[in-house]
Amino acid sequence: MNQERPSKDNPYPAFQAGWRDVMGLCTRYWMRRPQLLSGLILLTFCLVAADILMPVAAGMLVDRAVIAANGDGSFAAAWQALFLFAGASIAHGIINHATHVTWIHMAAPNMSSLLQDTFRKVQRFSADWHANTFAGATVRKVTRGKWSYDAISDIVWIHFLPLILIVSGLTIILCQKFLEVGLLFLATVIIYVGISVVLALKYLRPANIRAAAADSAIGANIADAITNNATVKAFGAEEREEVRFQGTSDDWANKALVSWTRGGQLKFLQSILWAVLQLVTIGVVLSLAAQGRASAGDIAFLLTANFQLGGHLRQVGNHIRQFQRASSELADVVDFHWRPEQIADPQQASPFEAKRGEIVFDRVNFGYSSTTQPLYQDFSLTIRPNERVGLVGPSGSGKSTFVKLIQRLYDVDSGEIRLDGQPVREVNQSSLRASVALVPQDPLLFHRSLAENIAYGRPDATEEEIIEAAKRARAWEFIQRLPYGLDTLVGERGIKLSGGERQRVAIARAFVADAPVVIFDEATSSLDTITERLIQDAMNELMDGRTTIIIAHRLSTVRDVDRILVFDHGRIVEQGSHAELMSLGQGRYRSLYEMQDVAA
Ligand SMILES: Nc1ncnc2c1ncn2[C@@H]1O[C@H](COP(=O)(O)OP(=O)(O)O)[C@@H](O)[C@H]1O
Ligand SMILES: [Mg+2]
Repeated sequence: MNQERPSKDNPYPAFQAGWRDVMGLCTRYWMRRPQLLSGLILLTFCLVAADILMPVAAGMLVDRAVIAANGDGSFAAAWQALFLFAGASIAHGIINHATHVTWIHMAAPNMSSLLQDTFRKVQRFSADWHANTFAGATVRKVTRGKWSYDAISDIVWIHFLPLILIVSGLTIILCQKFLEVGLLFLATVIIYVGISVVLALKYLRPANIRAAAADSAIGANIADAITNNATVKAFGAEEREEVRFQGTSDDWANKALVSWTRGGQLKFLQSILWAVLQLVTIGVVLSLAAQGRASAGDIAFLLTANFQLGGHLRQVGNHIRQFQRASSELADVVDFHWRPEQIADPQQASPFEAKRGEIVFDRVNFGYSSTTQPLYQDFSLTIRPNERVGLVGPSGSGKSTFVKLIQRLYDVDSGEIRLDGQPVREVNQSSLRASVALVPQDPLLFHRSLAENIAYGRPDATEEEIIEAAKRARAWEFIQRLPYGLDTLVGERGIKLSGGERQRVAIARAFVADAPVVIFDEATSSLDTITERLIQDAMNELMDGRTTIIIAHRLSTVRDVDRILVFDHGRIVEQGSHAELMSLGQGRYRSLYEMQDVAA
């Protein structure tokens, strides 16, 4: 597997998966249900046998009818041939149905497995990977992957396998009768397939790709304009957006037209080609008949065979094209499957044992992959159990990163972070994170009920516990006023609630989770003073008996903590209680505080 080098702009370059790798992935899923797969192959052989029996019976029917008409007038043998023909048709229908049933029972569960595996993989990629990847694009790749898998499986097992078997069968039968006709037949089929495939890939596909790209652009444009609808309205810019969209839309129409035109041309050419090829093969048999070497039945056989084969062959160019497209789409999924988890649990990771909530940074060095400068250098710090620590400092000074490192959303470059004496690298990630409750600045909620959102950290919480947590988080009052109370759905990302309400739901969540460490990352920065009061009360209650880290923009929020750490460029430049820091003559904290105090 090839992969570009990671770079600053593209820290997670795609693996270059080719069609062989894609087939490898598909094979893995096909082999998951070996009985169904063998059943399918067996049925396909039967189906093809019935397929070939039809032209054979047609040939017999004509020969016997001719003999009866010119001879004794006994049509019994001809009737037998007719029943054979009809029997083959009915058998074909039955086997076809059985194939379909087998097929769907293999396809649906396999598609579901593929989806689940991919979802599992993607969910576990690191916070950094997710930060560097568009969520929308990932969603599309994952969902599209299941249809691409389906398309490829369909083409391989339902189209190509029968086609190859039918062509081989007919060639063998013809060769037994007239070697030269059999070989000619095979050659013409190969020429037809070859020309179709080359044109489909070299002429039609590029036009299709351009049309598909224009189609995606339409989606992206609409999404961009609709998500920013509030801004569009605020500037009265609807018309401007419409003109912009017209360009995208027209571009798609032009490219779609080219692509459809070429599709039509290919079909036209295929029908001409088919006619010529039939003329040649049947012409040869006809001239053999003129020499007395072939019968009317042989001509009927070839006509019927060609008729059947034509249906399969006309689609061959389409299928190759679909195969190509599906395999390039599925390459994205292969990429997900190949990509190792960036932050993995160690082999036999022990679960984290939460104790009192002691946090130790031991000579930590860390920098983000997409930046050249390390953020933390030789950073050491101990936070005692039950200590309340305030983190202040300019934006970009590394406060949020501090929190992410405690949660092990990123791995440090060297040094070690320990929680309750256990290196975060050595314990199971989910148990570690369950012991750290985070209340972010702008909490996002799931589009699920409020109860589910509050109990997210402990899904088995009882309704009483949820209500208790909501009360302590000062959220119960507004929840009661909602039409469906705890059963209210909160809208995508929690959009139906105000910032302060979401904040309180997040605090209620932390109460239910009951973790020994709580972290508030600018939890009150974007709230009005009254809401801030309310939330401050809730925060104080939550901090009780836990190690607490409060990242605060407003310094008034951290006045009463045990220790304030002043961050700058990933370093702690001052630390101490509010009183201690204020007593420093030219201190950073003091000047920040005085600036805010004046402003307030
Ligand atoms: N995912 C990321 N990838 C690259 N750089 C990041 C990422 N997150 C934060 N940074 C950078 O790291 C520095 C510290 O960020 P952060 O810890 O969020 O600061 P603070 O919370 O103090 O405002 C900033 O320069 C920021 O741009
Ligand atoms: Mg921050």
